[in-house]
Amino acid sequence: MFLIKGLAFIKESWRRVNIAISDKGYIVKIWRSHYTNRYLFSQIDMIYDAKEYLIIPGLIDIHVHFREPGEEYKEDFVSGTKAALASGITIVGDMPNNLRPITTLESFEEKLHVVSKRAYTDFFLYAMLDEPEELSKIFEKFGHIPVKVYLYNKKTLEALIRRDLPSEPIYVFHAEHPDLIADHRKASDAYELNKLRPIKAELEGIDIAIKFAMRNRCHVHITHVTSPEAVAKIVEARRRGLKITCDVAPHHLIFFLEKINPKSPLYKVLPPIREKEVNHRLLRALARGLIDIIASDHAPHSPDEKSCSFSEAPPGIASIQFLLPLLYSISKRMHIDFDLLIKTVSENPARIFRVSKRGKIKVGYYADFAIFDPRYKGTIDPDTFFSKASLTPYNNFVVKGKVIATFLRGKLVYEDGIFLDKMGEYVGNIK
Ligand code: DOR
Ligand code: ZN
Repeated sequence: MFLIKGLAFIKESWRRVNIAISDKGYIVKIWRSHYTNRYLFSQIDMIYDAKEYLIIPGLIDIHVHFREPGEEYKEDFVSGTKAALASGITIVGDMPNNLRPITTLESFEEKLHVVSKRAYTDFFLYAMLDEPEELSKIFEKFGHIPVKVYLYNKKTLEALIRRDLPSEPIYVFHAEHPDLIADHRKASDAYELNKLRPIKAELEGIDIAIKFAMRNRCHVHITHVTSPEAVAKIVEARRRGLKITCDVAPHHLIFFLEKINPKSPLYKVLPPIREKEVNHRLLRALARGLIDIIASDHAPHSPDEKSCSFSEAPPGIASIQFLLPLLYSISKRMHIDFDLLIKTVSENPARIFRVSKRGKIKVGYYADFAIFDPRYKGTIDPDTFFSKASLTPYNNFVVKGKVIATFLRGKLVYEDGIFLDKMGEYVGNIK
C-alpha cells in the first residue's frame, strides 16, 4: 500500500490528511494527519509527502484535439498526453475532427487501437455526428460514447431533425449557426473574425441544440461558450427542465480584442475572441457558478502553420500544458474562487461525462491527483513544452502556480519534467 500526505481538496474544503492507496490504485482510507493509524501504517511500503503543496483531484479535460491518426506532425497522443500530465490532467476527451473524421465504426476502432498504445493519461474518444447508422454501430459495441456535433455539415443538420437518434449519449455542440458565419480565411484580423462569426451565430446554434434536446429528450452540452448571453440561454433552458450544460475555454476567459495583437495568428480561434465587455461578463457568469466545466480546447498547429498572416493561419490555440496554472492565475487576478474552478475541471466533468470513480478525492475512487505549488510565480517557457505546438499566445505569459507531480491510479506518473512509462487506458465505455 502507498500513502500520500498533505493538504487535499476533499468535500469542498482543504484538509490536512493521509490518503492510503491500494496496489490497484484506489483510495482505501482518508484520515486526519494528526491521528496515527498503526495498523494501516504497518502496511504502507511507500510515502509521498506533498509538504506545502496542494493535493488536487486529477483534472479531466473533456475537449482536446490530439490529431492522431492523420496529423501527428501537429500533435500526437504521446506528446499531447505528456503535456496534459504536466498540467495535472489525468483524463482527456479527444475530439473526432481528425484528418479522416471519426464518423464510422471502422474509423473509431482504428483510432482507439492506435492511440491506446500511446496514451500517458486515461482518455475517452468522441464520435462525430454524420451518419446515424454508423453511430448506432459504435454504440452497440462501445456503449453510448459522447457525440460531437458540428453544424457545418448538411448531413449532420439532417440527422439532427430525425427522431431516431438515441437519447442516452451526451451530444456536444460546437454552436455556430452555419447560415450566420463566413469562412475564417476572409478575416484579416481578430476584430473581423469576431464580426464574421458573431455571438448571434452562437446563440442560434444553441437554439438548434435546445430544440434537439427537447425533441429527443437527451443531454446536450454546449462546448466553448464565448458570451454571457449564451450562458443565460443555457441556464434558462435548464430551468425549463432540459438536460443542458456548458463549458468555456481558457482563451475566452483570458483574452479579449482590446488586449491582444489582433493581427497575430496566435489568437485566431473558432469561435473567435470577443470584446472586453463580453469577456468581463463571461467571467462574472463563471464566478457565479453558471458555467459547469472549463476545458482547454487544446487545438495544436505546427509552428510553421502559425507563422503566417491571420487570414491564412489555421484556427486553434494550444493550451493543455498550462491549464491548471492558468486557472489559478485567473482565480487570483479576477478574484474567482479557486475551489469553484477546481470543480469545473474535476467533479463536474466526471459527473457530466459519466466517468466513474473519478473527479473527487474520496474513498473508493481512483487516486488521480495533481500536486500543485501555489507559491510559484514565473513565465511560461516554450523550452519546457511537451506539446509539439510550441507557438502559443501563452509563450512567456506570467502565471502563478506550477504542477509539481501527477498521480494516475495511484502511480506517480509525472514529476518535475520526468514521466513514468505510459499507462493510459480507455475509460469511455458507457453501457
Ligand atoms: O479554433 C478551432 N480549432 N476551432 C475548432 O472548432 C476546431 C479547432 C481545430 O481542430 O483546430
Ligand atoms: Zn475544439
